[in-house]
Amino acid sequence: MTPISESRTALVTGGSSGLGRALVHALTDRGWTVLTDARGATRLVDAVAGTGAHPLPGDLIDPDHRAELAAWVDDRAGLDLLVLNASTLGPLPMHPLAQLSPPSLAAIFETNALAPLELAVSLLPALRSRAGVVVTLSSDAAVGHYPTWGGYGASKAALDHLVLTLGAETGVATYALDPGDMRTPMHQDAFPGEDITDRPWPETVVPHLLALVHARPAPGRYLAADIAVPAEATR
Ligand SMILES: NC(=O)c1ccc[n+]([C@@H]2O[C@H](COP(=O)([O-])OP(=O)(O)OC[C@H]3O[C@@H](n4cnc5c(N)ncnc54)[C@H](OP(=O)(O)O)[C@@H]3O)[C@@H](O)[C@H]2O)c1
Repeated sequence: MTPISESRTALVTGGSSGLGRALVHALTDRGWTVLTDARGATRLVDAVAGTGAHPLPGDLIDPDHRAELAAWVDDRAGLDLLVLNASTLGPLPMHPLAQLSPPSLAAIFETNALAPLELAVSLLPALRSRAGVVVTLSSDAAVGHYPTWGGYGASKAALDHLVLTLGAETGVATYALDPGDMRTPMHQDAFPGEDITDRPWPETVVPHLLALVHARPAPGRYLAADIAVPAEATR
């Protein structure tokens, strides 16, 4: 068991919207020092305003941006939590594989799998120094096969595999967490014109993610809904 204390440091990618935004708010509410990014600077700054989180706008696929994130972490005493949350569905509306161009497919993999892996690798020393945890956001599309979800789903499967293998190679605790459907802009993009108000808000997933970090079960892939939330895990 790892107590969630007030002096911990987290990097949450994609903090301007949806689950990332909800997690940044939850962590800062609990006294964490949080760095977060997103491409849209204004939306990012607005999303974390008043939380005390440090917004660093940029595109994860840009090596210079990843170096800036790593430099910010280097200035702290290590990293307790890395959440690889930022993600893309690819071209909208989502395309069947036969209509997804190779450059589009490559771009999905770059954002969803390769850049997050590079970021995690660059942060290994900081994670090791604090016995830190890496959580990637997975999807049911990483293990299921749904028409038009092939590029996104394969990239999520690749992310799970790469980061869990990195954990096996390094001993850093790594988890792939499937949050389930959430009422977010990404979900609405995937179902244009559909009423998604029956999906749960991303804030409902946050306690499960915090409980995972708190409990540190065996590294692997987990469904958020399967992770019990003891009261002490969310403090
Ligand atoms: N929503 C669901 O139902 C659902 C289900 C299963 C899994 N997931 C996964 O859960 C995670 C969160 O999803 P969400 O629905 O909360 O997404 P969301 O609302 O679309 O938010 C995505 C965040 O990532 C940022 N982002 C996207 N591309 C980026 C890039 N290249 N560099 C830096 N930041 C980038 C976005 O900001 P900018 O656009 O400004 O960059 C935004 O802050 C994702 O990994 C998603 O695949 C979601």
